Amino acid sequence: MPLITPPSPPSDDKRWKIVSGTMRRHGFARSALIETLHTVQSSFGYLDKGAVEYVAKSLHVPLSQAYGVVTFYHHFSLKPPGRHTMTLCLGTACFIKGASRLIDDVEGHLQLKVGQTSRDGGISLMTARCVGACGQAPVVLADSELLSEMTPERAVEQLERWTVE
Ligand code: FES
Repeated sequence: MPLITPPSPPSDDKRWKIVSGTMRRHGFARSALIETLHTVQSSFGYLDKGAVEYVAKSLHVPLSQAYGVVTFYHHFSLKPPGRHTMTLCLGTACFIKGASRLIDDVEGHLQLKVGQTSRDGGISLMTARCVGACGQAPVVLADSELLSEMTPERAVEQLERWTVE
């Protein structure tokens, strides 16, 4: 059987490596559709046209089916994230060091769930599996800035700084 090369990702953004890693783990099987779309959502905060097309093509799923999934589940968003994004790492090291409490406090403070954006479009809340800074766990990305050994209090302070901008 000839080897089929998967399509190129929509950009050279490193987050596409995480997405293609999910597909590779599943052998680019169609059944990986939902999990892959989840990976895009949690990495980028939303799925644009290019993302849905890339995933559908890579997994050999009809585009209409991929859109069907995206529009069916409330978790998925076709709209871009807020002006700021807080990404909480949920990898093992961060989890052991209290990431779940961080999430509870941040969700409570913003009255939002992970994957959502505040109504004013100011802040989106995302999670990542591991951002490669396990020695500084628990970590949070405030936009692209890595904040190490994070506490719920410091996370809330960061959110408040964004709110008054
Ligand atoms: S588990 Fe959080 S940085 Fe690795």
